Amino acid sequence: MSETTSRLDDVMQRIDADFEGSVDRLCELLRIESVSTDPGHDQQTAACAEHCAGMLEAMGFEAEAVETPGHPMVVAEHAGPTEDAPCILYYGHYDVQPADPIELWDHEAFDPVLTDSEHGRRVVARGAVDDKGQVMTFLEAFRAFKETRGSLPCRVKVLLEGEEESGSPSLDPFLESNVERLKADVCVVSDTGMWDIRTPAITTMLRGMVYVELRVHGPSSDLHSGMYGGAVVNPINELARLLATVHDEHGRVTFPGFYDAVATVPEEVRTQWRELGFDEDGFLSAIGLDRGRGEDGFSTLERTWCRPTCDVNGVYGGYTGKGAKTVIASHATAKLSCRLVADQDPEAVLEGIKEHFRSRLHPECRIEFECHGCNPAISVPTDSSWLTAARGALTDVFGREARLIGTGGSIPAVGSIREILGIDSLLVGFGLDDDNVHAPNEKFELTCLRNGIRSHAAMLEAFAGLR
Ligand code: BES
Ligand code: ZN
Repeated sequence: MSETTSRLDDVMQRIDADFEGSVDRLCELLRIESVSTDPGHDQQTAACAEHCAGMLEAMGFEAEAVETPGHPMVVAEHAGPTEDAPCILYYGHYDVQPADPIELWDHEAFDPVLTDSEHGRRVVARGAVDDKGQVMTFLEAFRAFKETRGSLPCRVKVLLEGEEESGSPSLDPFLESNVERLKADVCVVSDTGMWDIRTPAITTMLRGMVYVELRVHGPSSDLHSGMYGGAVVNPINELARLLATVHDEHGRVTFPGFYDAVATVPEEVRTQWRELGFDEDGFLSAIGLDRGRGEDGFSTLERTWCRPTCDVNGVYGGYTGKGAKTVIASHATAKLSCRLVADQDPEAVLEGIKEHFRSRLHPECRIEFECHGCNPAISVPTDSSWLTAARGALTDVFGREARLIGTGGSIPAVGSIREILGIDSLLVGFGLDDDNVHAPNEKFELTCLRNGIRSHAAMLEAFAGLR
């Protein structure tokens, strides 16, 4: 055991002794159906914010759920040992994705179940890993410090958002009007993954996103496909034709200017990634596939970490019920998102998307666009003393060096916190690739929960030595 962890013996013992309590508190949080995207869940989402504020308050934080035009922000603050102790802002989100398709869950999505796994035990519920279980990793570390030492080694601020899964519409205005209140030396985020169950990771690159819904309109009403079929434009056929033009034969996205600003990853970073020994076959076989598919000339890791993409996330129109109905629909819709990488301008990408579809549209059709999110890719500095301290703490806890990794996912708040508060983030997450993020049977391994709590305790102690 290293020096830091042995200095933290009392805190670590407390974490272990109260671990079942941590699991119970996580389960309580998971029972609240905080689905931010669905107005039918607004009351539960607000209740979840109150619940989080209550947990923080009970731990001695000054905490409140602050109203926004959307879902509330949970804001909390705890004094440190001294006024000039380092100040750490912890960001996470208490909202979750919808549970759909519910018929594919083995249990009710909001009734957490503990089951055995090859790693010990796991908790299965919507939000288990994204992000309630991960939020609990730092909250429970605070609790262990408070209960053993009566205080925290740093000044701590907490910001828990309730709209992360639905594009963070209230976040920027909220940050803008709370700059002083949220000011800190560094922001710590636990909403990403580990390298594998034994190896911690610090994520240094997040992709950005442009999410757009496009609707193709044709005839003024739905038509009998026998009376009109073959003689008039069919919006669903048109939409399918348009969507088929999004990639060329080399797997490259065809929107004008899409690759203009894309930064190339330095050779030393690509080399470091190759040395990670990514198990591409395992990654694919775990999802029932034999080979990857994407942009020619790039590995699977590069395709997800440093190359921009376009994926259709949903298509609908016409008759989708049981049986057959012979109809030509008057309109058809697709939801489409691009993951962006360093230096791409989300607004410029959005314009390119519109131009691409408008210029190819059949003259008898009309197209509408609705943007659901536009945020740039983010890189975090890899040479900061915060990152070095966090790395050391993770090595102490896991007995293995943390890997520096990229991720294909997006956390818009990280860019906003950099832009508006001027604070860099440290992305230390405890999820695994097979946690079923956003899918049925989402889970969090209890060993990840426990190591996450221990890691946050060790990091907090390590941060206290900086300044
Ligand atoms: N926690 C995820 C981001 C993530 C996913 C990081 C997988 C690492 C691995 C986050 O909550 C999320 O899902 N974000 C959305 C953002 C979108 C709604 C703007 C995403 O990436 O799709
Ligand atoms: Zn998340």
